Amino acid sequence: MAFIIAVDGPAASGKGTVASRLAALYGYPMLDTGLLYRAVGVRLLGASGDLDDDAAAEAAARGLDLSELEKAEVRTRAAGEAASRVAVHPGVRAALFALQRDFTKREPGSVIDGRDIGTVIAPEAPAKLYVTATPEIRAERRWKQLSGQGETVSFDDVLADIHKRDARDGGRENAPMTQAPDAVLLDTSEMTIEQAFDAARRIVETARARS
Ligand code: DC
Repeated sequence: MAFIIAVDGPAASGKGTVASRLAALYGYPMLDTGLLYRAVGVRLLGASGDLDDDAAAEAAARGLDLSELEKAEVRTRAAGEAASRVAVHPGVRAALFALQRDFTKREPGSVIDGRDIGTVIAPEAPAKLYVTATPEIRAERRWKQLSGQGETVSFDDVLADIHKRDARDGGRENAPMTQAPDAVLLDTSEMTIEQAFDAARRIVETARARS
């Protein structure tokens, strides 16, 4: 069976970095599922702009072209906020399910990061991590990233975004962000990237030895 590494957690927890380092280490393909929701959000912003329109959001998700994930636009603060809003629509999640599910079948394995990978997309994954950090630390990391991309935004606004997103992503009815019962918690608040990666690698190695 394919060795799926599921990496979930809130925004700017370090999960993306941990996931891509694990993918490089094992030579596995990686899917950043946040980009799917971001691309749907960007599509809607470029059309009606109505992120609450569930039918339009679902149509945007069904028509998604994977080349859209490469655009710089999907990495902006506005795209992150739009992604979190379109992600509440069950039709959007259903439209993106098959694509994510297909990815889990890749041999010899894959790394998939998101919010509901260990709970909904790949509950059978032998290795599951739930990566987190305090909201303040996550806001600092996200602020640095956005500033590096040339976005002008205050730390306080980024922190407010983080709180709002945690509440929306964790509070939605359909596939909320939550730690799977069999996921290992990795709190990166006090860790460097190197330390977080090392801890993640050990968690995966333990899971590999068991599977
Ligand atoms: O990981 P990210 O910050 O790029 O994700 C953007 C938003 O997309 C996030 O706030 C919620 C949504 N999302 C989701 O609902 N399920 C996923 N598996 C990944 C992202």
